[in-house]
Amino acid sequence: MSNYHIKHLEEYYQVYRKSIREPENFWEEVAEEHFMWRKKWDNVLSWDFSKPEIKWFEGAELNITENCIDRHLATRGDKTAILFEPNSPDEPSEHITYNQLHKRVNKFANVLKQQGIKKGDRVCIYVPMIPELAISVLACARIGAIHSVVFAGFSSTALATRINDSDCKMVITADGSYRGAKTIDLKGIVDDALEQCPDVKTVLVAKRIHSDIKMKEGRDQWLQPLLDAAPDECKAEIMDAEDPLFILYTSGSTGKPKGMVHTTAGYMVYTAYTFKNVFQYRENDVYWCTADIGWITGHSYIVYGPLANGATTVMFEGVPSYPDFGRFWQIVEKHNVNQFYTAPTAIRALAKQGVELVEKYDLSSLKVLGSVGEPINEEAWHWYNDVVGKNKSPIVDSWWQTETGGIMITPIPFVTPTKPTYATLPFIGIQPALLDESGEELKGNQVEGRLCIKFPWPSIARTIWGNHERYKETYFSAYENKYFTGDGAMRDEVGYYRITGRVDDVIIVSGHNLGTAPIEDAINEHPAVAESAIVGFPHDIKGSALYGYITLTNPGESRDHNNLRKEINQLISDRIGPIAKLDKIQFTQGLPKTRSGKIMRRILRKIASKDTSNLGDTSTLLNPEVVQDIMDNAL
Ligand code: PRX
Repeated sequence: MSNYHIKHLEEYYQVYRKSIREPENFWEEVAEEHFMWRKKWDNVLSWDFSKPEIKWFEGAELNITENCIDRHLATRGDKTAILFEPNSPDEPSEHITYNQLHKRVNKFANVLKQQGIKKGDRVCIYVPMIPELAISVLACARIGAIHSVVFAGFSSTALATRINDSDCKMVITADGSYRGAKTIDLKGIVDDALEQCPDVKTVLVAKRIHSDIKMKEGRDQWLQPLLDAAPDECKAEIMDAEDPLFILYTSGSTGKPKGMVHTTAGYMVYTAYTFKNVFQYRENDVYWCTADIGWITGHSYIVYGPLANGATTVMFEGVPSYPDFGRFWQIVEKHNVNQFYTAPTAIRALAKQGVELVEKYDLSSLKVLGSVGEPINEEAWHWYNDVVGKNKSPIVDSWWQTETGGIMITPIPFVTPTKPTYATLPFIGIQPALLDESGEELKGNQVEGRLCIKFPWPSIARTIWGNHERYKETYFSAYENKYFTGDGAMRDEVGYYRITGRVDDVIIVSGHNLGTAPIEDAINEHPAVAESAIVGFPHDIKGSALYGYITLTNPGESRDHNNLRKEINQLISDRIGPIAKLDKIQFTQGLPKTRSGKIMRRILRKIASKDTSNLGDTSTLLNPEVVQDIMDNAL
């Protein structure tokens, strides 16, 4: 039996049991059979969650790009590695074979070296979904530079914070990007950001929209001429198993974004292994994940996981609504997509458009339908299953996080019977636990609690860049000897998990994690604002939307509230990005607070959700009178 590819339920249980009883033997076998190592490990795993310190495959040497590219060249050189589908359906798609990818990554790696980038340096990648994004990621990995991809929808302030937090020396960007019918001036955003980033010495600019942009002498360079002049071969840097591969920022409930650090070997093994099984990928399949490489889903399941398996991975530049809401299905038909991986927010938006745009296209190539990023509601699940999957393509509701690196709880298609809204069973090697508020583990089934993981898996993030203490505090301090996910979950009568959502102040809007604190900080910068509190409320497409309660410094002053709302949203857009804008803004006399001065968000959440029949215990409130006022004026 090969442990690498699970094909039926009995096998799942068998492999799962082995992965729990003998995790080291299990992962060693997977690592040995399926990857290319320059040197094997001395020790499979050492860990201590109290420090926390986790090391997988210690002593091993490798380069992840040799695993994702070079080792496929002999057998898959002419196979399409990356299938680029542009924003506009009128522009031709581009098939980049493994041979071509090899050449392009090597050339790019040589450019990085020529520009003085060395192993361990941080490079910020702020590039839209064009091939250069995947190629620059791989080029960094080729030479051992640590990539920090920042989603090209973030504002200049958000970009600057991320560049400075990890001391990036270089920024890779594009002149601009296409987003449906719009273009975005990416280079202008980078220029603004770099006013606050004195350590960035070089900016490489890919040409995409051919806009007339300013290039700063001595700092900015067009990418293409450098690539044209660079040699085709670049020796892969030999990396230690635990050398950092990348940093990726995720929002915390408080404070600045956390730069999650992923290391090389464990991340590679786990993303490759999950990709193969969770999507049941077969040699000639065409796989498409609609995420952006700016998020972890794109890192693990557009770039590294698929390429480590020699797969064909689609990269789509555009949006689901352009030129119309049939675009996803048109792409599925055009490229005979076999596995399709998207987010519930997209499914809900598409479902709203009715079935005609789905039925217009031949979707018979589809075999597996994935969902990720937030809980999928029952209605969306059924629509996806029935209308898109025609009841024959299993829905893979995969739960995981930036911090986990790879998929953690998920059905395996054609193996695990699915159940609407349930992420079902832990993946191989994953040991979840549900805990009550006092930290007791809830044993048995039909229980609900806080979701923790009891044992390390190969792709767990190893630290927060520059702040190991915060890593410990955020993930390993709530419950002794366990990784705390920040999510709540229930386990049903057969042991299936259903993720119920965040139990902290992170709100997931359209699948994007947003911490309340940075948004409140942005709002509070407005001179008219005294204080603010953000909560989520149910939204039929976004899943959750943001509701802001804001008190003004001078409530008596007559002001145009609609103008003020616009100014506040503009401020949020400038500081964080348009994704963090508030759907509703209520100006209030005060915010409900406990005697210790903490805002009672529970009450605000209930009011925003129009669920005010029982507000729970309000006896500890310092100012109960504001609650009635807020309720009376709720939006
Ligand atoms: O709350 C969970 C939710 O998304 C959070 C992680 O967000 P992020 O780090 O941005 O990574 C998203 C892509 C992996 C989780 O803590 N989440 C993710 N997938 C699911 C989910 N909630 C319910 N069901 C899911 N399938």
